[in-house]
Amino acid sequence: MAEHPIRFGIIGCATIATKVARAINLAPNSLLYAVGSRSIDKAKSFAAVNGLSDTVKLYGSYDQVLDDPCVDVVYLPLPTSLHVHWAVLAARKKKHLLLEKPTALDLTELDRILEACESNGVQFMDGSMWLHHPRTVKMKEMLFDSGLLGQVHLIHSTATSMGMTEFFENNIRVKADLDALGALGDLGWYCIGATLWSKNYKLPTSVTALPDTLKNSDGVILSCTASLHYYDDDDQPIKKSTTAIIHCSFLSYTCTDLSISASKGSLHLKDFIIPFQEDSAFFNYTLDAKLVELHIGWNIVKPEKVVVDCELPQEALMVQELARIVEGIKKSGCRPDSKWPEISRKTQLVMDAIKQCVDLGCKPVYLTENRTHYN
Ligand SMILES: *[C@@H]1O[C@H](CO)[C@@H](O)[C@H](O)[C@H]1NC(C)=O
Repeated sequence: MAEHPIRFGIIGCATIATKVARAINLAPNSLLYAVGSRSIDKAKSFAAVNGLSDTVKLYGSYDQVLDDPCVDVVYLPLPTSLHVHWAVLAARKKKHLLLEKPTALDLTELDRILEACESNGVQFMDGSMWLHHPRTVKMKEMLFDSGLLGQVHLIHSTATSMGMTEFFENNIRVKADLDALGALGDLGWYCIGATLWSKNYKLPTSVTALPDTLKNSDGVILSCTASLHYYDDDDQPIKKSTTAIIHCSFLSYTCTDLSISASKGSLHLKDFIIPFQEDSAFFNYTLDAKLVELHIGWNIVKPEKVVVDCELPQEALMVQELARIVEGIKKSGCRPDSKWPEISRKTQLVMDAIKQCVDLGCKPVYLTENRTHYN
């Protein structure tokens, strides 16, 4: 543990808070300092169930966490509809912010949060853990730095997880007043994030929802598929373009595939959001694959496998990275890092466009830096 670790306060004792509390304890530069719930009993039971140290402050309200001058960073895993209120308040109290995804119900709300962070000089980061895994860094090198795989043409990502009957009736992820974006917000966030990541955060030109969107009786999306289109505007005789297909659903068993097809090869993984194992992860790629003469097989026997070790789980790396930035702001007067809010903002912008397209009956929606529109 560092001599002066960055102190985290958690507001809300959602299931995901258990995982992040563990991550804060694992990250060497961070300390779980306070937990606040709507009642002190809930906070106490969260502390007991998770075996938290006696030194962790327990509060019976969210406000007490925000008012504690020792809290540096607030982790906010509340239902999405409550994000804008509590995140803006936290930023005004000069708390750096780790905000669970989806970050807000729409871009207008997220912009209010980002504006509050900016004007109060605090760091913003959303809870997308996979971006912090060393495997993600390794794949990025292969796609962009070495250019080994060539030009990306197709990105296919899936994020599904099966809901039980009880889930469809009671879980906050399918309640219109709590998490109105449903599967698109909870799981589609990752697919949109993977698409933007694969294109080095270039925004698509347009998005189109496929006509297969399924909603519950509250109008909350349970399953949806969309295509995202990139058109390169250079003057080449054959226009380069990229298409991404994303699929998110609460109706299929867990599947988190990402495959990228590019001009010289392809990249595949089946566990892009949470690796199969914590301490080591792998991805596969093929390079210059061809069929042999007579087309009775391939010139490669199987894909190349790249194994990447991970000393800390990806969520602890996320906490560590945020604490590192916060330390720079606190101790060396650094500016907040604009990379993380920019990634969140683009993800939310594309999500808004897909939602708008669903609502318009699958009419394509075009994107610009600041908004979405249709013709
Ligand atoms: C990845 O590659 C390894 C080695 O070539 C192979 O055994 C494995 O089945 C591949 N896995 C996937 C998910 O493609």
